[in-house]
Amino acid sequence: MKDPYFDVQSEMGITKHAGGWKATKELAELCHIGNNKYVLVVGCGTGISANKLQKEYKCKLLGVDLHPRMIEQSKKEYPDMKFQVADAQKLPFKSNTFDAIISESVTAFPPGKLKAIKEYRRVLKPKGYVGLNETTWLSKPRKELTDYTVKAMGGVRPESGRNWENLIRKAGLKVVFAEPRKIKAFEQAVGEMQLNGLKNIKAFSRLIPYYFTKKEFRQAMNELVKHAVHVPKGFLKCLGYGLYVGQK
Ligand SMILES: C[S@@+](CC[C@H](N)C(=O)[O-])C[C@H]1O[C@@H](n2cnc3c(N)ncnc32)[C@H](O)[C@@H]1O
Repeated sequence: MKDPYFDVQSEMGITKHAGGWKATKELAELCHIGNNKYVLVVGCGTGISANKLQKEYKCKLLGVDLHPRMIEQSKKEYPDMKFQVADAQKLPFKSNTFDAIISESVTAFPPGKLKAIKEYRRVLKPKGYVGLNETTWLSKPRKELTDYTVKAMGGVRPESGRNWENLIRKAGLKVVFAEPRKIKAFEQAVGEMQLNGLKNIKAFSRLIPYYFTKKEFRQAMNELVKHAVHVPKGFLKCLGYGLYVGQK
């Protein structure tokens, strides 16, 4: 396994983002998603929120993700939807194609965050919207905390709210909404249940046989559990998320 964080999630069939379904809906509304709009979901993971967005807003939707296993799972779970492998930093689409782009807990992963946001701008139609839900430092983090997110959360490098806004502006978009937020444990749990529902149970039933039969998977899980147990002090106060919307 190359990256235990994503490999375990794709095997379990569950990916997530802070704020759950409520945050996704807020972004969809801020980005004016609706009937007949063409929406690109970048970093769709296992396709759960992409599926809910398409159902709820009756939009035409395409989901992309860097990891082929995520796309395999999305296609298996939602065979009537469109998914393909693609890197946020080099989107294989013509300029001016989509009405809106939704990307949740994705743009903090690639080394070229600005490159990715410039790509979002390029493939958007004029006046189109980019809605980001991104991991956000709510105060200046100690090095121990930045090292921890890289090690324990698949290489993620959050930014401050101000930096996310600057990146959106530098990419040539107008910032129309920016709101860093704390992650509230109860709200998060409810939001995840709304998104994943029974998939949570299915995910665990998938995990058990994998854990006992696949050595690589077991090692990856053990690694994740080790990180989950040794969370550095102040981490949960310092790390939040934010909703950021830019318009072309
Ligand atoms: C934390 S998961 C969130 C998935 C999904 N947005 C959700 O909310 O369930 C992050 C996702 O971003 C994808 N990802 C990371 N880097 C990417 C890149 N450069 N281009 C596209 N997807 C990427 C990962 O494969 C993973 O599926």
